[in-house]
Amino acid sequence: MAPPRVHLLLALALCLAFARADAAVRELRVGYYAQTCPRAEEIVRRVMARALAREARSVASVMRLQFHDCFVNGCDGSVLMDATPTMAGEKEALSNINSLRSFEVVDEVKSALEEQCPGVVSCADIIIMAARDAVVLTGGPNWDVRLGREDSLTASQEDSDNIMPSPRANASALIRLFAGYKLTVTDLVALSGSHSIGEARCFSIVFRLYNQSGSGRPDPHMDPAYRQALDALCPLTGDQNVTGGLDATPVVFDNQYFKDLVHLRGFLNSDQTLFSDNEGTRRVVTQFSQNQDAFFRAFIEGMVKLGELQNPRKGEIRRNCRVANGGRPPLEKQVAPFRVLDF
Ligand code: HEM
Repeated sequence: MAPPRVHLLLALALCLAFARADAAVRELRVGYYAQTCPRAEEIVRRVMARALAREARSVASVMRLQFHDCFVNGCDGSVLMDATPTMAGEKEALSNINSLRSFEVVDEVKSALEEQCPGVVSCADIIIMAARDAVVLTGGPNWDVRLGREDSLTASQEDSDNIMPSPRANASALIRLFAGYKLTVTDLVALSGSHSIGEARCFSIVFRLYNQSGSGRPDPHMDPAYRQALDALCPLTGDQNVTGGLDATPVVFDNQYFKDLVHLRGFLNSDQTLFSDNEGTRRVVTQFSQNQDAFFRAFIEGMVKLGELQNPRKGEIRRNCRVANGGRPPLEKQVAPFRVLDF
């Protein structure tokens, strides 16, 4: 008879084998759709260019989806799912409600892809391709994206609420959060540079304009002239849905965001804190403010790492990015929905 230690090892090996059968980490690769949908990347780029021409901000809004998708149970398109009577969607989570936008651009990409190659390209991959294209189309760098993700069957509002950072977050909290995903201080600063494009609401900054950390005073780390401009944009009792540019050039992907931080002209508290509150992040902000190429290189690395976060659960290729395929059964299954009970 085998000694107890061997039994233990055998049991462990079996457990691991079962765990792996359920939790498959998928191999992502460049050119994943080369055979099955050769024009996929071209189609995404074309729809994104059209969206940009319609509304410059929309591509930034789509790029943001990569962050909000990948941090919550991996890059699985869960952020795109509409709520159902039995599932609260991530769209209504604290950081997303009245804030995430341009879902219709993703829908437009998906329809174009479904027309060309039905049931092939995942919504999770669409986000990754579209985020890259948002950067390229606004003047930033280009890179190859690794594809082959599946779409989740569910979404979790609760997980999004627990994970996504608030605009009030300070540098050390952000460093800790990103470290949990094996993202370094450089990744954090580079990825925050995505705020080189896009806009934010007054809702996200009134606390720092009028009552930073409950002090009843504004954030001291603000250039006075910039603060005056933000006060005028966002008066205490004004409309919180008014928006301002996240940097001085909000439709151009460049290193202006970092120059702004160095001059205490960051829009969000979570941005300014990277320069004002932490030695480690300040060093990287300063470097990127002086060297756009270094920022671009680090940004690509950060986006690739962010895109590698996976949901190990078995997924599917959704036909409609807003609903799981099972959520809208094909017609023939709808005819006799209680067949299983019919004995
Ligand atoms: C480091 C932690 C981060 C925090 C605390 C944060 C927070 C925010 C907030 C509060 C807004 C404005 C929301 C509103 O007022 O409605 C925003 C906008 C945006 N965020 Fe972030 N963000 C972070 C990281 C990222 C990352 C990693 C990306 C992309 C990879 C990203 C991309 C964007 C973009 C593009 C916008 C503008 C969207 C638009 O114009 O619709 N953010 N972010």
